[in-house]
Amino acid sequence: MTRAAEVVEQALDVLLPDTEGMEGRLGEAMRYATLGGGKRMRAFLVMESAALFGVAETSAARVAASVEMLHAYSLVHDDLPAMDDDDLRRGKPSTHKAFDEATAILAGDALQTRAFEILAESDTHSDPQARCELVAALGAAAGAKGMAGGQMIDMVSEGQELSATAVTRLQALKTGRLIQYSAEAGAILGRASSQQRHLLAAYGRDLGAAFQIADDILDIEGSVAEIGKTAGKDQAAGKATMVAVLGAEMAKAHAEMLARQAADHLRDFGDRADTLRALAAFVVARRS
Ligand code: IPE
Ligand code: IPE
Ligand code: MG
Ligand code: MG
Ligand code: MG
Repeated sequence: MTRAAEVVEQALDVLLPDTEGMEGRLGEAMRYATLGGGKRMRAFLVMESAALFGVAETSAARVAASVEMLHAYSLVHDDLPAMDDDDLRRGKPSTHKAFDEATAILAGDALQTRAFEILAESDTHSDPQARCELVAALGAAAGAKGMAGGQMIDMVSEGQELSATAVTRLQALKTGRLIQYSAEAGAILGRASSQQRHLLAAYGRDLGAAFQIADDILDIEGSVAEIGKTAGKDQAAGKATMVAVLGAEMAKAHAEMLARQAADHLRDFGDRADTLRALAAFVVARRS
């Protein structure tokens, strides 16, 4: 992940806008929100799934940078006072704190559009069909029936008691869909068979579910230094989390089961998928 993070950091630096002109503050906020932090797990998923099919690293790095921009946008908006009202992100002030709310909203907007623009550009893949598939898949993953829809359910569920099934759906949309897309992106870039793409999608779905439960657990068990965000906020906000529904111990066991299930989907890829298998173990053991 450290190596993927270095590759994507460089790609992001090139692909993000400059800070010139009267609009320069927007470029600054986009760079602030995106560069120099985060685990880069979604980038890693793109790079590793692409490597399964021998995709050129320059192509994969662009798609990895694109998904990290989309993800950074989601974090900037998630932290706004109107949403989770979080002042700390990746160990530094949230974008609306470092700049202001209007700038943070615009930075999120422009990060999102830049993510799609990068996918559509010819340097991303020589085959326009592949580029269209990436755009369509990211749109579906991030939109009303994906991440944004999940964030809507998250907001309307504050203070409500949801069933485990309902929390599973909430988390599949707000977090799982983008992680699933990241795993599938390599198959799209590699023009893989639909069977191979389905296996990676299934892996990403279970991985994403395990990942969000781990995030919920870290909110109660992690320190501010470890997670780089204010801890203990979910319960205070009445968030519908798997910890709230199952309790921490059962939520942990459930996440571990999902991580094993994620790895099981990779059987057909043999030992070439060992790194992706290791990632499944990492997402539930992580402390940040
Ligand atoms: C945080 O994602 C938001 C969730 C979907 C839980 P990450 O934990 O991947 O955040 P960074 O990119 O490492 O900061
Ligand atoms: C956020 O989930 C998911 C997004 C789409 C941004 P959380 O609200 O739990 O993420 P954190 O804990 O703020 O990183
Ligand atoms: Mg949130
Ligand atoms: Mg949040
Ligand atoms: Mg959280």
